[in-house]
Amino acid sequence: MISKASIDKIFSTVRVEEIVGEYVQLKRAGANLKGLSPFRDEKTPSFVVSPSKQIWKDFSSGKGGTAISFLMELEGFTYPEALRHVAKKYGIELEENQRELSEEEKQAQTDKDLLYKIHEVANHYFQEILWDSDEGKSIGLSYFKERELKDETVRKFQLGYSPEKKNAFTEYALEKGYEKEILEKSGLSIFPENAPAGIDRFRERVIFPIHGFSGRVLGFGARILKNNAKTAKYLNSPETEIYHKSNVLYGIYQSKQAISKNQLCLLTEGYMDVVSLHQSGIENVVASSGTALTIEQIKLIKRLTENVTILFDGDAAGIKASFRSIDLLLSEGMNIRVLLFPDGDDPDSFARKHPQEFVENFIRTEAKDFIDFKAEILLQEAENDPIKKAEAVRDIVKSVAFVENPLKQEIYLKEISGKFGLSEQSLFNELNIQKQIQKNQPKIAPAKEEKQKLEIVTESGFSVDPLLFLEEKLVELMLKYGDQILELQIAENQTHKTTVIEEIIRHLEEDDYEILSSVNKKVVDEIKSGIQNSELRTGNFFLTLMDENISEKVADAFAEPYETSNWEKHKIYFQKEDELVPKIVNDVIIRHKREFIVKLIKELKDQEEIAEIEKYDKIIRLNEIRREIDEELFRIV
Ligand code: UTP
Ligand code: MN
Repeated sequence: MISKASIDKIFSTVRVEEIVGEYVQLKRAGANLKGLSPFRDEKTPSFVVSPSKQIWKDFSSGKGGTAISFLMELEGFTYPEALRHVAKKYGIELEENQRELSEEEKQAQTDKDLLYKIHEVANHYFQEILWDSDEGKSIGLSYFKERELKDETVRKFQLGYSPEKKNAFTEYALEKGYEKEILEKSGLSIFPENAPAGIDRFRERVIFPIHGFSGRVLGFGARILKNNAKTAKYLNSPETEIYHKSNVLYGIYQSKQAISKNQLCLLTEGYMDVVSLHQSGIENVVASSGTALTIEQIKLIKRLTENVTILFDGDAAGIKASFRSIDLLLSEGMNIRVLLFPDGDDPDSFARKHPQEFVENFIRTEAKDFIDFKAEILLQEAENDPIKKAEAVRDIVKSVAFVENPLKQEIYLKEISGKFGLSEQSLFNELNIQKQIQKNQPKIAPAKEEKQKLEIVTESGFSVDPLLFLEEKLVELMLKYGDQILELQIAENQTHKTTVIEEIIRHLEEDDYEILSSVNKKVVDEIKSGIQNSELRTGNFFLTLMDENISEKVADAFAEPYETSNWEKHKIYFQKEDELVPKIVNDVIIRHKREFIVKLIKELKDQEEIAEIEKYDKIIRLNEIRREIDEELFRIV
């Protein structure tokens, strides 16, 4: 954990315009700076940076935040990764926090650092051999030439070559002072009894370094030069403390910006697919590197986009792999399209045969949504056999059952219904059966936190729970105007002074309201403990909290004046913001109270354990309160 002091230091040092300026050409526009959105293609600048508020807002994508959240959006960094990045840039020394590490933990940390270091050294070494040694040039580099890779592509992916000599790298590393133990742990060398000078893992192979999200080399893939049935074509690093093959995606480091910008990730199988597509100008591509796609890999992509197009070889193995990947991607809430290349081609060979524009078009037009894709493959097999046809439908509905979002499910079912001429009702029944089956099978449960986020994200969409929406607004008001004084009229000529924070917290506590969203709950809990210490914790306090969700929320609250348009969508109308804060606070509290009561009534109606009389008694009372509130709201409007 990075200490709070360090985080404060980072936030007081970093300049949002400097961080953003590295990615976006900014021009002065009044008090602000303006530029083209790095998240969307656009011709007129709608990306604004405010040096005085130290925030940015992208009006074309609706995103906004601090310097830190900008890096999180654009580079896909986690919160601590973004903090470290900024600390490094500004030369801020980080205090790492709290708990004393045990000896073992310290050792593990040093080991890890050493492993990173040795991979960096090896990566350098393999490239140097490729470019500067005779063997490297005549064998390694000429191999890449044969595969039509340009020098700049080879450099971009830091490709290298490992020489024929049995212990070339081991010797080099030992001479540099690295110990046998760490060389062995890295998987780069082994030291058998009969060869005390060590043996390199990679010999006479071209090298593909595998980078983590933020660019550190975690391991290598190494290709043999001639296709030879006896040895594996690619030899990869073994699992180490820093390399877990199920957690990495080849190319993520080089491709993350393009993935984020295009809001699409192309998913391939091989090292060469990634490298080759980059060379043809298609840079939003990663590879699962021959292993079956994993949840961890999907989560890496999800940091950048929810849209994936799977590019697979059109052979039977490719199809089978794609079916499995589809279900996994769906269960993680991704939107998927699938493209099989014509038999015999993989993305690499296809990209070399055709110009960029053709390949881009091909991917765009030929990729099918997963329903069409599965239907096509399965119906081909079924021909006109009605039983097989039913099996095909069942198989497709099975995939839909992996989708968590009910709205998406419904849309998919509609599509299937139209396609096969089946009633939505029967498909829906089938869906429920499939869900039951899945329930009884061990399945990857999506993280709770994730679900919460989804509900909030839909704010710009259609079906927002009004209670959650108003809860959001209450929190936003506290973050934005928390310390503003409110003068409440309590009797005819008597007023009572309080603050926005205190008034809203009083309301939440009075009704024993349980906060719906976990992020909001964190904020409210912080505010409450602030009150106990006679401290008003508003936006600025939260900006430096070690919580990405919160700091993003604050920045969003700061970024704009009250966005009335947003409210109108939800049929909630207001007059202008500014001096109206007390009125708005009052309004939101009342509306929130109303929605809360509506929810309580609904819950009561569904309740079975409580006696009818008691139940209706309660409902009647709640309805009365609701009516009073409605009258009050009517007076306000
Ligand atoms: P491919 O054989 O499709 O790889 O295997 P490729 O990238 O197209 O290789 P080229 O074009 O012949 O050079 C797909 C991926 O499976 C993994 C690698 O990650 C490879 O990129 N693989 C394949 C291995 O790890 N070991 C192997 O022996 C073969
Ligand atoms: Mn290939």
